[in-house]
Amino acid sequence: MTATHSAEKKRYYEAAPQDIDVENFRKVIESRRSVRKFTDKAIPADVLDACLDLALLAPNSSNLQPWTFYVVQTPATKKQLIKACLGQLAAKTASELIVCVARTDRLDEMAKRNISEFPFPEAPPAVQKYYKFIPYNYKTGYFNALGNFKKVAFKVARKLDKQLPVTAFNEADAKLWASKTTALACENLVLALRAYGFDSCMMEGFDEPLVNKILGLNNQQYPVMVIGAGERAVDGVFFPQYRFDRDLFIQKV
Ligand SMILES: Cc1cc2nc3c(=O)[nH]c(=O)nc-3n(C[C@H](O)[C@H](O)[C@H](O)COP(=O)(O)O)c2cc1C
Repeated sequence: MTATHSAEKKRYYEAAPQDIDVENFRKVIESRRSVRKFTDKAIPADVLDACLDLALLAPNSSNLQPWTFYVVQTPATKKQLIKACLGQLAAKTASELIVCVARTDRLDEMAKRNISEFPFPEAPPAVQKYYKFIPYNYKTGYFNALGNFKKVAFKVARKLDKQLPVTAFNEADAKLWASKTTALACENLVLALRAYGFDSCMMEGFDEPLVNKILGLNNQQYPVMVIGAGERAVDGVFFPQYRFDRDLFIQKV
């Protein structure tokens, strides 16, 4: 690491704002519901863009940003998408339909961008090294050759008491990796919509091959969910929100 890098590393500090209104934060989370019926009020383009920008701020694995959000606005495509969403009311009445796609086909490009767009004048050598290696952690190679190689290598390394990170041993692992991260952006998106006074319904009730066909997705692009968004109709929420006892889900160990 050069002198400049270490100086920058020491100098850089980002303050954590302390003046956040927790009550409003709670209100956003607690008032988000899955809305199954929307009014025909449009979401202003600037509001939708602001929400999408907030979605893109979600934490994501290695900052590789393995996602694309298709905002489907062409009437003919929207009609096809509603059909692919099994004609759900939430899709039919939504003023916007957003297909949230996880993807593993841009790993190299995104790794390179992490080097070229690193927010210091030059990416530190450790960062450069990391991004040269990390795509292989999530790639599986032709005929899963790399995935199979990693499987054996990891098995051997674990026998030697080495601790190893989550990796992709096959296509399903890679899909899971990208989907995990994409779902976080989806949550950002629906909370942002709520904060701007709009609502949403996450939908995985859709015909995946049909969505792939409508959007022309390749076999390394996976629609994780379709988000219907708009203004909540008075009868848009069908029942009060409920969750089971927190002891079922939280374990302090
Ligand atoms: C990944 C995912 C997929 C979902 N798919 C659908 C769907 O296809 N149709 C639907 O009406 N609701 C769908 N939902 C909404 C859930 O049913 C809803 O979040 C859950 O019942 C809790 O209700 P709440 O969101 O109002 O708190 C989905 C939610 C998630 C997170």
